[in-house]
Amino acid sequence: MLLFLVSSSALRKPSVFLLNCVLLSGERRMIWRVLSYPRYKLTSLPTPMERAARLSKELGIELIVKRDDVMELCMGGNKVRKLEFILADALSKGCDVLITRGAAHSNHVRLTAAAARRAGLDVYAVITPPGSLATQGNVLLDRLLGANIVPVDRAEEADETMLKLAERLRSEGRRPYVIPVGGASELGVLGYALAALEILQQSLSLGLRPKYIVHATGTGATQAGLALGLKLLGAADVKVLGISNGRRSPEVVGRLVDLFNSTARMLGVDLRASEEDFEVYDEYTFGGYGVITSEVVDVMKYVARTEGIVLDPVYTAKAMYGLIDLARRGAIERGSAVVFIHTGGTPIAFQYASEVEKYL
Ligand SMILES: Cc1ncc(COP(=O)(O)O)c(C=O)c1O
Repeated sequence: MLLFLVSSSALRKPSVFLLNCVLLSGERRMIWRVLSYPRYKLTSLPTPMERAARLSKELGIELIVKRDDVMELCMGGNKVRKLEFILADALSKGCDVLITRGAAHSNHVRLTAAAARRAGLDVYAVITPPGSLATQGNVLLDRLLGANIVPVDRAEEADETMLKLAERLRSEGRRPYVIPVGGASELGVLGYALAALEILQQSLSLGLRPKYIVHATGTGATQAGLALGLKLLGAADVKVLGISNGRRSPEVVGRLVDLFNSTARMLGVDLRASEEDFEVYDEYTFGGYGVITSEVVDVMKYVARTEGIVLDPVYTAKAMYGLIDLARRGAIERGSAVVFIHTGGTPIAFQYASEVEKYL
C-alpha cells in the first residue's frame, strides 16, 4: 500500500502524513483515497498551528489558530491547498492556461495566478463586483503576476464569460482549464479533507482534541473538505462551524451537501451528507460580502492587539467575530478546545486600507 501511494503521488513527496496514515486503523484508512490523488506542491505542509493564550483566557476556551495564512505561495491562504490538487489535474491534461473568476479582492484569483506562474502556465481572471480594480492589495498582486484581467459588470455573467473565453483560446490552439469560483470543485474539496488530518495530528501533539473547528465559509470547498476528511478519519464528532462571509446559510449548506456528496462519489467511498450535517452561521456578514463595518475593524484590532495576528476584513475578521460571539454566549461551551483556521486574505487589509482606516 505504501509503495502504491508513493508512486501515485509523484508530484509531491510522500510526507509525514502518509507515514502516520499507515498507522491508522479500520475506516480511518479511507483517507488514503485522498492521498492517492496527485498534488502539485505549492507550499510546505503542515502549516503552523499555535495556541492563542491571551484570547483563550479572555474567551474561556482553549483557542488554537491554524495558520493557513502562513505559506510560501504568494502570501498563502486556503486556496493553496485546493490548487495543489487542481493544478496537478490541469497539468496531467496538458493544459497551458488557467481561467478562473472572483471579486476584485479575490484571494482565489491571486493564488490561481501565482500557482499558474509557478507551473509555467498563463492565466486569465474574470473579475466581478464587488470591489474596485484600483491597483492595490490583491489587484496589485494579480497585475504583478501578469494575470489577464477580464472585468464583467455582473457576477451572474462570470461563468459564461469563462466558457466563452475558453472557447476562444481553444480556437487559437491553446489548452485552457477552467477553475470554478473559489476553487469549489471535487478536487478543491480534497485540499481540506487532507487538512483535517493535519489539524487532528497537530492537535494531538499539542495534547488536545478539538471540539470545534471554526472558519470563514463561502463557496464551500473548505467546509465540505473538512467535513469529509473528518468523516473519513472517523472523527465526525469534531464540529465544523462555518461563518458565512455573505451568502445566506441555506445557500451555503446546499453547496456543502453537493460538494461533499460529489467528492465522496469521485473517491468511491460510501458516504452521503445531508443538510443536518452542516452548521453555517450567516448572522456575522455585517451587511454582506465585502461590506466593512466598525464591528469588523474592531475585531481586526482586538486580535492584532491581543495575539499579534492580522485578520482581513472580508473573510477572517467576520469568522473570528462569529467565534468570539458564539463563545461569549455559550454556544461554544467554556473550556472547549477550538481550532480557528486563519484562511488567509492578508492582502485585502491593504486593498481596503481606506475603509479600515475609518474605524482605526
Ligand atoms: C481568506 C478566505 N477565507 C475563506 C474563504 C472561503 O472559503 P471557501 O470558498 O472554501 O468556502 C475564502 C474564499 O474566497 C477566502 O479567500
